[in-house]
Amino acid sequence: MSRPQLRRWGLLSSPPRGVPGLALLALLALRLAAGTDCPCPEPELCRPIRHHPDFEVFVFDVGQKTWKSYDWSQITTVATFGKYDSELMCYAHSKGARVVLKGDVSLKDIIDPAFRASWIAQKLNLAKTQYMDGINIDIEQEVNCLSPEYDALTALVKETTDSFHREIEGSQVTFDVAWSPKNIDRRCYNYTGIADACDFLFVMSYDEQSQIWSECIAAANAPYNQTLTGYNDYIKMSINPKKLVMGVPWYGYDYTCLNLSEDHVCTIAKVPFRGAPCSDAAGRQVPYKTIMKQINSSISGNLWDKDQQSPYYNYKDPAGHFHQVWYDNPQSISLKATYIQNYGLRGIGMWNANCLDYSGDAVPKQQTEEMWEVLKPKLLQR
Ligand SMILES: *[C@@H]1O[C@H](CO)[C@@H](O)[C@H](O)[C@H]1NC(C)=O
Ligand SMILES: *[C@@H]1O[C@H](CO)[C@@H](O)[C@H](O)[C@H]1NC(C)=O
Ligand SMILES: *[C@@H]1O[C@H](CO)[C@@H](O)[C@H](O)[C@H]1NC(C)=O
Ligand SMILES: *[C@@H]1O[C@H](CO)[C@@H](O)[C@H](O)[C@H]1NC(C)=O
Repeated sequence: MSRPQLRRWGLLSSPPRGVPGLALLALLALRLAAGTDCPCPEPELCRPIRHHPDFEVFVFDVGQKTWKSYDWSQITTVATFGKYDSELMCYAHSKGARVVLKGDVSLKDIIDPAFRASWIAQKLNLAKTQYMDGINIDIEQEVNCLSPEYDALTALVKETTDSFHREIEGSQVTFDVAWSPKNIDRRCYNYTGIADACDFLFVMSYDEQSQIWSECIAAANAPYNQTLTGYNDYIKMSINPKKLVMGVPWYGYDYTCLNLSEDHVCTIAKVPFRGAPCSDAAGRQVPYKTIMKQINSSISGNLWDKDQQSPYYNYKDPAGHFHQVWYDNPQSISLKATYIQNYGLRGIGMWNANCLDYSGDAVPKQQTEEMWEVLKPKLLQR
């Protein structure tokens, strides 16, 4: 039964005074049976998605209404990291796309199995009441290889997947991992165990300068070779490529240069991170839309680094300081994305979809379309 029908019958307004208890109960039963809490125009849009696509396009959304301009012909999953938006859920379901929760938790708490159980129950309840299709577990905390957190994390992922799969038909449980399994940012996780325990891993192939061990200079957010080395290492540890979704950045880093040499080497401040002497924390993250607006006022124009296969440019701020901006564009992303077909990865995704310009103005509109376009599997593009 749809919501308008109930409203017509006057069942959604508060009951008149003096209605006998039995009638109230009957009314309650009727409402529950009809699923009248469903906020969608059609009640069937509240049903979880059961179809499993061959190719995943996994989109992170951080809020507002930009989702209305996304390329829904491609999207298979939206991980909602902003405020819950029932309109987004209804719309995604109408396009056959899943909507999943963000799952994050303090790792010292999950050593206790009872805590894990209650955390999972709470997330499951949230997913059900919001008619969602799963959860994306985003733990970016440090884990020591010999600590109790190491096994507790694998257990958390396994128990979350078991509960979601059991309670929400067709649901999806995914886990976000760093660009490489080699203890990046002191994250010693049981990657094979976690990959086995969930539907797939979202590989965050960005922030690859989070730990700079060599010279403290500005470099690409997701250099070509470094990115592909990460996937090779996941696959070498016998993780099935079908368990890996490639995450690409729709943002870049703006570094203030302590010195900018004539051959474009930008020396950056030493900001240590998890044991490394310097880090991309010396820079500032900027969305693609801001970068595209700034390029024309740069002093260098758009440059291309052949070693890292990445675009970048230099500009001077009003205070007279030089900056270097490293980012990804359709060219650098499509180079990396060919790996997906060559190695049979599960799909692609980005952090985050909100970073593009959806104003509809002619120049940004074209740039935005090109960014969505390169997500398409290469074989189908020809
Ligand atoms: C990883 O987790 C799996 C599943 O729990 C377990 O069998 C395996 O021994 C773990 N591997 C390591 C290196 O701890
Ligand atoms: C800083 O950049 C200038 C201009 O390219 C160069 O001449 C100088 O050697 C650089 N200084 C250092 C410390 O790298
Ligand atoms: C930047 O310059 C290019 C080439 O002159 C032009 O096509 C483009 O519209 C400009 N972009 C913006 C945002 O003004
Ligand atoms: C990138 O990897 C390829 C193949 O392994 C290698 O030939 C090339 O030299 C590497 N480039 C850089 C800049 O490391």
